Amino acid sequence: MANEKYTAEENYQRLLANNKQFVSEKLAEDPGFFDKLAEGQSPDFLWVGCSDSRVPANQITGTDSGEIFVHRNVANLVDINDMNFLAVLHYSVDVLKVRHIIVCGHYGCGGVLAAMGNTHIGTVNHWISRIKDVYVKHASELDAIQDETARGSRLVELNVMEQVRNLAKIPLVQRAWKSRELSIHGWVYGLSDGILHDLECMQDDLDGIESIYRYSNI
Ligand code: CO
Repeated sequence: MANEKYTAEENYQRLLANNKQFVSEKLAEDPGFFDKLAEGQSPDFLWVGCSDSRVPANQITGTDSGEIFVHRNVANLVDINDMNFLAVLHYSVDVLKVRHIIVCGHYGCGGVLAAMGNTHIGTVNHWISRIKDVYVKHASELDAIQDETARGSRLVELNVMEQVRNLAKIPLVQRAWKSRELSIHGWVYGLSDGILHDLECMQDDLDGIESIYRYSNI
């Protein structure tokens, strides 16, 4: 919902005013803050999160500019047909050499809940249709959960775990594993309490990945 405290123009101008405040606060803390950032970045994390405005990567992890390389899309999906995602993955893994990839979903994710339903919303349905595949894969577990909110929350978790596995199936990730450490983590963020939950589905090798997804010549 748009912020109704302000007119559209005021709301837009507020961002530019906030930026002036941000710059002066950062410079007061550390006069060299922007000079250091301008020299380059060496983040240790790639974040694959939902586009949802309530899940800002840096803010909820207490990290600063330069610490997290970020990719966000509706319902935090890892899609090998998405050139944007592949470019982000390639650059962060092969060039920046991040040591952690974090797939972060969130409870109450509109994309996941829409995928659980039968209403066609529009174009976004095509994007989230693969979450229906995740549902089907785990239908016996999910169908047994009577409470719809609890069922949606479980699908949020299963979707994150599936995206962690999807990352492990990508050749450039498998190639990185041949020579160095790279951990892929699955997290879920609670919108109502601000808490990050580690789903403990960490993947730092091909453990649990079926042999058909493993490339032998990379
Ligand atoms: Co979401």
